[in-house]
Parts: sequence; structure tokens; C-alpha cells
Amino acid sequence: MTSSLFDFDVPPDRYAVMGNPVTHSKSPQIHLEFARQTGQRMVYEAIQVNDGGFRQAVGNFRAAGGKGLNITLPFKQEAWGLVDERSERAERAGAVNTIMFLETDSIFGDNTDGVGLVRDIVVNQSINITDKRLLILGAGGAVRGILSPLLAENPSEIVIANRTIDKAEALAIEFSVGMSIQGCGFGMLGDRQFDLVINGTAASLQGEQLPLPDGILAGNATCYDMMYGISATPFLDWGQAQGASRLLDGVGMLVEQAAESFNLWRGVRPETVSLIGLLSA
Ligand SMILES: NC(=O)c1ccc[n+]([C@@H]2O[C@H](COP(=O)([O-])OP(=O)(O)OC[C@H]3O[C@@H](n4cnc5c(N)ncnc54)[C@H](OP(=O)(O)O)[C@@H]3O)[C@@H](O)[C@H]2O)c1
Repeated sequence: MTSSLFDFDVPPDRYAVMGNPVTHSKSPQIHLEFARQTGQRMVYEAIQVNDGGFRQAVGNFRAAGGKGLNITLPFKQEAWGLVDERSERAERAGAVNTIMFLETDSIFGDNTDGVGLVRDIVVNQSINITDKRLLILGAGGAVRGILSPLLAENPSEIVIANRTIDKAEALAIEFSVGMSIQGCGFGMLGDRQFDLVINGTAASLQGEQLPLPDGILAGNATCYDMMYGISATPFLDWGQAQGASRLLDGVGMLVEQAAESFNLWRGVRPETVSLIGLLSA
């Protein structure tokens, strides 16, 4: 049972985001704003977890009365292995970004990254993905989460490029259902062109530029960096220099994936657009 706004005799329900690094996370601010907006009585904190300490940290949080968690880099795949039950989209993604502790004692895992990204691009930004050529950079947990929802929009083509080429190739084979996805390295993109390029690598987090070739953006192309929190990322700087029509960072995705998690935990969907505007300012 979740506590309501007026249950002053019981402590507020506890939620958190776990990751490493996690100090830059805006999730606490977002969820507390959702709670205020929808009248939910809850607290939400950021918990930094060291390598090898994830399972223990989840167990400790649950033992202390925690109701649910968001999971961020680098633990999404480990979270997938830790949960007892998974949503269909988490099952397919092989990565979990949302955990809910059920009253049956089971741990339920979901993945809201993909639906958050697609909602931000298609609904908030009014960018049509259908029949468009997509390039996805990276092959980690976040990219695993976005592939199925992007495929569901029926793009004409998806290419995955990654620093470790084997990982891009393996992901492309795994997700090639209904259409052929190609996996390759950054240097193999040479003479191709794309309408939408999504950066799902952690390079921007490290302030690093990806070794992308010139001329791969089609006219009217959009560059979307899933990274957020710094005004211009190296990837968006590259996009601007290459003549991209639109440059977007991951704030909208962050708020939308958080809204999906919040809805799962609390059974109410918060309004997102004004918060995206506030965080982007
Ligand atoms: N906006 C949002 O809501 C949202 C949600 C989820 C994730 N994200 C962002 O997405 C990014 C990736 O997260 P993740 O969970 O997928 O991480 P992850 O599982 O650790 O994967 C990291 C990916 O980045 C690549 N990479 C790391 N450093 C690189 C570098 N210096 N140059 C080139 N490639 C590099 C890795 O390539 P290798 O395979 O070669 O190691 C891998 O493909 C992060 O920036 C995260 O903040 C944003």
C-alpha cells in the first residue's frame, strides 16, 4: 500500500535513483516535482553505488522500507538479472531502469527509457520517425532500451555504431526483427546519410568527441544527445558544425522516462512539458 498525502502517522514512501556517477542526476528534483504536482507523499534520493555493490545496495534499500528505484549507468543490465519479474519491454531490452518492490516480496523490473525517448521526439518535438534513416551511437544499456520503441515507429533504416564494433553487431542481430539493423564502427559510416542521429554513448558524460565522419547528416537532420545537464555537449557541437537543423539534449527523455516510472509506482501520470521547459532553461 502507498501512503497518501494525509497519512501523517506513517513515514513517506521512499524512492531513489542508484548509479555511478549519480551526483549529476536530476531525478530527485523531477520526482519531487511530480509528487508535489500530483499530491503524493514520498521522498526520493540519489544513491551512489560502487562497482560490485549493486545487489547489496538494492537489498539494503528494500530492507529500509524502500518502495522503488530508478537504475542508471552502469547497473541497468545487472538490474535486469536481479529482478524476479519483468515487463515485456524490459525483457526485450535486456536492461532495467525502474524497479518496484511488490507486496508479494517479488521485485518487478521495467524499462521506461525507450518510451521516454520516443515520446520526447515524436510528441514533444513533433519529429516524425516513420520512414526516416536512423543512426544510433552506442551499444550499452540505454541503447538496448530504446531499440524496440524506435523500431515500432517504422523507420526506413537503423544503423548502430559503437566504439566496440562487436557489441554493435551483436545488438543489430538481436534486434533485427521485422527489419534489418546494421551494426558497425564509427569509421565505417563513410558515405551514408541519416535524418536522425541519437547519441546513446557515455562519451558526452566524459566530455569526449566521437570520431564521426563528416557529411553523414542529411538535409534537415536532427541530432539528439541522450546526455543532459551541460549546455552544449561535444556531440551537439559536432552536429552544429555539420549543419544539423535541430539539436536536442536528453532532458525531455529524462523527464518522460521518469513520468513513466512515476506512473508505474504511484498509478498517476504527471504533466511533463512545463518541467522540461524549466529544466532546459
Ligand atoms: N536522458 C536520459 O533519460 C537518459 C537515459 C539513459 C541513458 N542516458 C545517457 O546515455 C548514455 C549511455 O548510458 P548507458 O546506460 O547506455 O551506459 P553503458 O551501458 O555504460 O554504455 C556506455 C556506451 O557508451 C560507449 N562509450 C563510453 N565511453 C565512450 C567514449 N569515450 N567514446 C565512445 N564511446 C564510449 C560504450 O562503448 P563500448 O561498448 O565501446 O564500451 C557504450 O556503448 C549516458 O550518457 C547516459 O547519461 C540518458
